[in-house]
Amino acid sequence: MGLKFLATARALPGCLVTNDDLAQVMDTSDEWITSRTGIRQRYFCAEGEGNTALAFAACRQALERAGLRPDQIALCLAATFTPDHATPSLACEVHGMLGLPESAPAFDINVACTGFLAALETARCLLAGGSLQGKYALVFGSEVISRVLDPNDRSTAVLFGDGAGAAVVALSDEHPFVSLLGARGDPEILCAGGSGQDDRYVRMQGSAVFRFATQIVPECIGGLLERAGCTLEEVDWVVCHQANGRIIDHVIKKLGAPSEKFYMNIHRYANTSAASIPIALDEMCEKGLIRPGQRVLCVGFGAGLTWGGALITF
Ligand code: ACO
Repeated sequence: MGLKFLATARALPGCLVTNDDLAQVMDTSDEWITSRTGIRQRYFCAEGEGNTALAFAACRQALERAGLRPDQIALCLAATFTPDHATPSLACEVHGMLGLPESAPAFDINVACTGFLAALETARCLLAGGSLQGKYALVFGSEVISRVLDPNDRSTAVLFGDGAGAAVVALSDEHPFVSLLGARGDPEILCAGGSGQDDRYVRMQGSAVFRFATQIVPECIGGLLERAGCTLEEVDWVVCHQANGRIIDHVIKKLGAPSEKFYMNIHRYANTSAASIPIALDEMCEKGLIRPGQRVLCVGFGAGLTWGGALITF
């Protein structure tokens, strides 16, 4: 059974931070950041602004655009590694703010940057399982990564941004949906949020992450196409997790693919982890780039290590 996207939405916090702004507070430059990553700016939450408010803004708009009332939602899934609280989950906080029905389960999925794609497949399986009361699922990725960035570590502090992206989905025979998810337990090369105050920050071995990403993303795209029985030529758009423009350029080169098929917005938002793919999908829908019937291949990778892809038919 496939998955239909009824609506998408996104929300960004109010604080726009350019590379030059960062260069005022740490030893970096617009030239270094732009040439190594493609990032030009990012949005950060202000003091006191949290993930719940950000996620709520995106979810409320997605519901409105879908033309649905809160009581029509059967499932609420959040993808995040930066919830406001360890518990209750971000999904439960948004559930309460939206006034979703008690019959709609709500929980978080922590698959780092792969989270939105894992949440979509989880929603599809739960909707198909028949245990939910209703047809529609609210699925969103939302992160406040600024909270876990070490201002003294310029090699990670410049890479990330805050943001939220949401979608309302339902099962559909006319909208084939193919998913692929994987993991390789490895806490060394990328992690965040140890239990102590001092190790809550994102820590990353940049070149190891780069090697992992440029290996796994083409493999994941190949695996997904094989599963779907189609070729890259038959896909209209590829949306990679927006971690680094150079990673996406490498992938394009490795696959010998046309670069115009690969959507990029990392220059505007930096890496928003689980929010990056739904934010990109919403931007593309808003710009009229994605038309009904088109196939969009999404691929994510992140801490865990984890990876995943989804071939979505709009
Ligand atoms: N500004 C200026 N100089 C910097 C900065 C900065 N922000 N950060 C590091 N440098 C310096 C380093 O200190 C080093 O200086 P040195 O040679 O004097 O020691 C120099 O720049 C080169 O550092 P490298 O780490 O070799 O830089 P590299 O060209 O490899 O780029 C980068 C680093 C961009 C992090 C790269 O490794 C990368 O893209 N890795 C992938 C990481 C990624 O995308 N993570 C995303 C998060 S995870 C996820 O979403 C899955």
